[in-house]
Amino acid sequence: MQNNKINERIQSARLGGGQDKIDKHHNSGKLTARERIEILLDPDSFEEMDAFIEHRCQNFGMENKVFPGDGVIIGHGTINGRLVFVYSQDFTVIGGSLGEMHSNKITKIQDLAMKLKAPIIGINDSGGARIQEGVDSLKGYGEIFQRNVDASGVIPQITLIMGPCAGGAVYSPALTDFIFMVNQTSYMYLTGPDVVKTATHEDVTHGELGGAEIHMKKSGVADYIAENDIECLQMVRRFFDFLPSSNIAELPKYKTNDPADRIEMSLETLVPEDNTKPYNMKQLIEKVVDEADYFEIKEDFAKNITVGFARFEGRPVGIVANQPTELAGCLDINASIKAARFIRFCDAFGIPIISFIDVPGFLPGTDQEHKGIIKHGAKLLYAYAEATVPKISLIVRKSYGGAYIVMSSKHLRGDINLAWPNTEIAVMGAKGAVKILKGISIDEYEEKFASPLVAASRGYLDDIIKPHRTRWRICKYLAMLENKKVEKPWKKHDNLPL
Ligand code: HXC
Repeated sequence: MQNNKINERIQSARLGGGQDKIDKHHNSGKLTARERIEILLDPDSFEEMDAFIEHRCQNFGMENKVFPGDGVIIGHGTINGRLVFVYSQDFTVIGGSLGEMHSNKITKIQDLAMKLKAPIIGINDSGGARIQEGVDSLKGYGEIFQRNVDASGVIPQITLIMGPCAGGAVYSPALTDFIFMVNQTSYMYLTGPDVVKTATHEDVTHGELGGAEIHMKKSGVADYIAENDIECLQMVRRFFDFLPSSNIAELPKYKTNDPADRIEMSLETLVPEDNTKPYNMKQLIEKVVDEADYFEIKEDFAKNITVGFARFEGRPVGIVANQPTELAGCLDINASIKAARFIRFCDAFGIPIISFIDVPGFLPGTDQEHKGIIKHGAKLLYAYAEATVPKISLIVRKSYGGAYIVMSSKHLRGDINLAWPNTEIAVMGAKGAVKILKGISIDEYEEKFASPLVAASRGYLDDIIKPHRTRWRICKYLAMLENKKVEKPWKKHDNLPL
């Protein structure tokens, strides 16, 4: 008898909000919460918990209803054999809305992930705080946020936005390390179109307000956007392989057929002789890393800097590189914030940072100054200076002024600082300098500074290397730095310029 009851409850939990709601969900181009877990995790690896959970709400007709699993599925499984904890909100069950028991399930899995020091992936698809449960819903969010903060820098936290994510609910994803969104079917905002209309008389759609493209191109909230659920989940699997399980775990190591000493002659001609001409820095990255595999994040935000993960000899690294095709590779507010956050993630999780530098300076102008480039640029400087993971940099063409110091220079305790032969390191470019230092010519200035030799003669560069040997040199330095350890004096925490 009890067995029948239990089986019934399991069946009902598997069906979520019922076939009609599942059909409606599918018709809107989305997979169900369970289908998503199946694609995300290795086959048959998922073990569910708390499928029998029931809400305790007595308001607005809820008292006589049971909602299977209370709108969220939790459990653990593996991705390419490595343990991961997961929650997946089920929009077919009262819109995936979050009440007391729903949030208890999420915090249970957050606590387990922290106890086991394994990453957590949250799949969000929810109408937000369950209106019928009032302050219990708000309490639920607060409990989740606190755990997001506790876990920050301890275990990787990844959020997938695969439907609505509105109101204060957006702050859990915002507190996690990476946000993946799906084009057209997902959106995030603090106040929805109706409230916006009332407050500002602005007519705006869900997508215009907080769709995936907006968060990739304008706000910088999203780290990756996929065209559909399947692509998104597969990308997260690929992405996961770059991350260690926690801040005390070894970096994952994968087999590669790409020889460490591979010579790449095309790098000799990658940079145009005319130093005002752009070239694509991503080509350099793809030519030196293992198997040209570069996982770029925030690809369409602050395109003047590119950040992402790659591998050398099978081990993950974080790449930070100025991109001369956008704003000539200048650093601006958005680029500084984007790179600073990425560097801090890498540092927290022991991932070495490789910087490829071609930077004419910080972007000048009232717009940047008035918006606070001073404090935002300081974030990037701060992130490089506080990072104690192996830091290797390569100046590819030029590095001027404050940006020279900021971009992983020797003076911010860069471990290995390299340059290609035709690089310039100076306070500023020749044209600007001759205007200030009257009486000297551009030729004289370039003769003095259009070379890495001055910096190398002071020991600010460790070596001037041949472009075609870049990969081999980086591999050797990474191996040398593998056991780098730095002790820091005790402090409660830092005071990063925010
Ligand atoms: C209770 C909810 C709900 C909610 C949706 N549902 N959101 N139930 N609380 N917050 C229910 C609906 O009543 C409906 O139930 C089912 O879920 C599906 O919703 P639909 O509206 O039919 O779906 P759709 O047309 O796709 O619209 C989705 C939606 C809309 C845009 C998300 O449901 C919506 O606007 N929901 C409210 C969003 C919101 O304002 N949430 C609060 C945000 S503030 P039935 O039974 O009809 O199937 C917040 C504060 C958090 O979250 C603070 C943390 C600090």
